[in-house]
Amino acid sequence: MSDRGSFTTRLGIILATAGSAVGLGNIWRFPVETGQQGGAAFIIVYLACVLLLGIPMMTAEFAIGRRAHTDIASAYQQLAPRQPWFLTGYAGMLCVTLILGFYSVVAGWILKYALDALSGTMSFVTDSAAYFNTFTQSYYLPVVFALLFIVLTHAVIKRGIQNGIERFSKVMMPVLLVLMIALAAGSLSMSGAAEGLAFLLRPDFSKLTADVVLSALGQAFFSLSIAIGCLSTYASYFKRDVNLIKTATSVVALDTAVAILSGFIIFPAVFSVENVNPDAGPGLVFVTLPDIFGKLFGHGSFAGYVFALMFYLLLTLAALTSTISMHEEVTTFFCDRFGMSRRKAATIMTCTSMVLAMLCALSYGPLHDELVIGGYTVFESFDFVTAKFIMPLSGIVLSLFVGWRLDRELVLDELTNGGTLSLPRPVVAGFFFIIRWLAPIAIATIFINELLS
Ligand code: PHE
Repeated sequence: MSDRGSFTTRLGIILATAGSAVGLGNIWRFPVETGQQGGAAFIIVYLACVLLLGIPMMTAEFAIGRRAHTDIASAYQQLAPRQPWFLTGYAGMLCVTLILGFYSVVAGWILKYALDALSGTMSFVTDSAAYFNTFTQSYYLPVVFALLFIVLTHAVIKRGIQNGIERFSKVMMPVLLVLMIALAAGSLSMSGAAEGLAFLLRPDFSKLTADVVLSALGQAFFSLSIAIGCLSTYASYFKRDVNLIKTATSVVALDTAVAILSGFIIFPAVFSVENVNPDAGPGLVFVTLPDIFGKLFGHGSFAGYVFALMFYLLLTLAALTSTISMHEEVTTFFCDRFGMSRRKAATIMTCTSMVLAMLCALSYGPLHDELVIGGYTVFESFDFVTAKFIMPLSGIVLSLFVGWRLDRELVLDELTNGGTLSLPRPVVAGFFFIIRWLAPIAIATIFINELLS
């Protein structure tokens, strides 16, 4: 396995891993959740979740991957031979495969919107709800765009870690950040900026319910790509001198900054138009925003054209760097476990995700009432099973594994790079306290609460 490749620079590692984390979760789901859960109060709980649980859990996942230097299932097997921990590795791969199924569908919608923004069609849309519904109800268009998105993902994966993922992330992530800052500056100069900012920054704690805490934790895990093997797969390509805690802190900081910045882009625009409700739900990005762009800038205007194009391009890039990390987890598994060539491994994953994406696209649209599992469409059931079951359960297992099953010395050896880094004692004590106690208890409490409700 010596030729499995590796990331070559620290910047490459941070940008690739941040690429996995930054995605539709930040720019689409975060504003939707913030809108629905009442703004600033939700953001404060979210920040507490990413800082307290996100950084240590990401570090723990990195430690598993880099220590074992192999795919997620083999990593658990290597670190705890002949024990059932490796099953979480398989659960993680199942989870990313299902997520890739429905994520590619939404990413396909984004791609279609980006192309329509580019061709100028979008700026003439006057009824954005009808536009969205006609598109998603079509038999072939959503399928075609979802498949196209998977093909784009495949094109990067097949080039490998260094020439594919690292090189792509090093170009695309800076572009993404520049686009975000430009859009936020544009949005903050709009008339509703003050109201939008107040919504994001002035907490109303009467809105803080158990449900808000649960949503914030779920959102934090999804947004950081935690616990289902993507991060440990990437870490299996880290060199031995990479500082894991520092890397996790930088990635969490970038991911959180992007989420907050998307709030700064979306809410000033939302509050600049009369009678738009900030809790628009999932349609926020696909129905509300195109409508707002049209009303704010005037249909067919150049400013509207530029704003929409930049926004959907930004979403396309964010989604792509995330689908790449999901795909890579399973591709790495086939390569490491069965010694397959990268090309063959990637093709198997690409074909599998194409079938799932097709089912999700059709179950959202024309076959909404036919493709149903237990009362949910295929699309909804994939979302439900991954977010409500596999992710929290894997989070509990991950923290128990690193906190209790692995030798403390082994974990410390990874955190300090074999004793070459000196870590302040409170950092080490805090890490172990969170991984052993706080994380499993907090996630289990929230999970059980959700089951009983
Ligand atoms: N973190 C990604 C996002 O915010 C989604 C993701 C989840 C990616 C799980 C990989 C694994 O969109």
